[in-house]
Amino acid sequence: MNEDQNPSGDGKGQTREQHKRSAESGSRNPYQNPDGGVTTTGHVWDDDLADFNNQPPRWWMLGLAASAIWVVVYWLFYPSIPLPSSNTYFKGLGGWTAIKEMEADKGEVDAVRGKYEVKLKNLTPAVILADNDLTEYVKRSGKVLFGDNCAPCHGTNGVGTKDKEGLFAPVLNDDDWLYGGKIDDIYTSISGGHQGMMTAHKDSLSDKQIVDVAKYVMALSEARGDSEPAGKKVFMESDCTSCHGQDAKGMPMMGSANLTDKIWRFDGSLEGIKRTIAYGVNSGEPKARVAIMPSFTEAGKLSDADIKKLAVYVYKFGGGQADAPVAPAPVVSKK
Ligand code: HEC
Ligand code: HEC
Repeated sequence: MNEDQNPSGDGKGQTREQHKRSAESGSRNPYQNPDGGVTTTGHVWDDDLADFNNQPPRWWMLGLAASAIWVVVYWLFYPSIPLPSSNTYFKGLGGWTAIKEMEADKGEVDAVRGKYEVKLKNLTPAVILADNDLTEYVKRSGKVLFGDNCAPCHGTNGVGTKDKEGLFAPVLNDDDWLYGGKIDDIYTSISGGHQGMMTAHKDSLSDKQIVDVAKYVMALSEARGDSEPAGKKVFMESDCTSCHGQDAKGMPMMGSANLTDKIWRFDGSLEGIKRTIAYGVNSGEPKARVAIMPSFTEAGKLSDADIKKLAVYVYKFGGGQADAPVAPAPVVSKK
C-alpha cells in the first residue's frame, strides 16, 4: 500500500497527514505528496520530522519588500556610506546632523522654559511661591542650580556638610534658621550672603566664667537653665544677651544662633561650646569658628531670577516658614 502512494519515490511534496501516516506505517520514503497539497521541503531529520513548504503570508512578504525599500531610502536620506577615496562619507540628502537635532531639541526645551523664565523675572519670590505651576517648575529646574552652586557646602538637598569642627554649612531642609525661614529671608541670605559674627571672649571672661556659661548654654537646650546659676549670671551680665537675646533664642537679624534648641552648628560638646565662646565665630581669632555664606549677587555668579528660583527651591525643602498670604501671580492671558 505504501508503495503505490509513493510513485516518485523522492520523498518530496507530501502533505502532513500523508507524511504522518507513512511515517507511522514505517515507509522508507515517506516525504512525498502525490495529492499536490502543501509540500515539505524534503529536508528530514530525526527520521520523520520535515518542514512544510508553505509560502509565507502575503503581509509578511509585503513587509519584507517595504523594509528593503526603507533601507534604501534611509541610506539616501541620512549620512551613511563611507566614501573610500576622500576621508569623508555620504552626508545624505536630508541634511541631518546630530548637532542640528540637538539644537532643535534644545530649542524646544528653551521654548518651554522660556515661558516660565519670562514670568519669573518680574515676580517676587513670595509670588512665585504662591503659584503652584511656577513652584513646580522651580522645584525641577532648581535642582541643577542648587547642585552646582550650593550643594558643595550645604550638601545634596540641603542636608548640610560636616567638617572636622562640626557642621560646615547649615542644614537647609529643617525649620531651624539662623537668619529666618520666610521666603524673603531666604532670598536675602542667598543674594547678600552672611557672615555671622560672634566676638571672642577669652580676654573678657575668665576661664571659670567660660566653663560656667558653657554649662549654662548646654543646660538651656535641655530646658534646665536654672540648674546653672553661675553660668546664668555670666550670660545675663556679659554681652551674650545683646546678640542672643534675654531668652537666648537668637536674633534672625544677626544670625545669632538659638541656644535653647538641641541643634548645634558647631561642636555641641562642653569642649566645643567652650571653644566657640572663647574664640567666637568669624572673629578673626586663629581658633575662631568660620562661617561664610558667599553673596551670590556680589559674586555675579547668579542672575536675580536664579536667586529667586533658589529661594523657592530651598523653601520647598520643607523648612520654609509661612508669611502673610500674598496675591497669586497674575494670570497671563492666553492669546
Ligand atoms: C562656601 C560655602 C557655601 C556655599 C557655596 C553656599 N553656602 Fe549658604 N551658607 C554657608 C554658611 C557657612 C552659612 C551660615 C552663615 C553663618 O553662619 O553666618 C550659610 C547660610 C545659608 C543660608 C541661611 C541659613 C539660615 O539658617 O538662615 C541659606 C538660606 C543658604 N546658605 C543658602 C545657600 C544657597 C541657596 C546656596 C547656593 C546658591 C548657598 N547657600 C551656597 C555656606 C555656603
Ligand atoms: C556679637 C554678637 C554675639 C555675642 C556678643 C555672642 N554671640 Fe554667640 N553667636 C553669635 C552668632 C552670630 C552665632 C552664630 C554663628 C553662626 O552660626 O554663623 C553665635 C553662636 C554661638 C554658639 C554656637 C551655637 C551652635 O549652634 O553651635 C554659642 C554656644 C554661643 N554663640 C554662645 C554665646 C555666649 C555664651 C555668649 C556670651 C558669652 C555669646 N554667644 C555672645 C553672636 C554672638
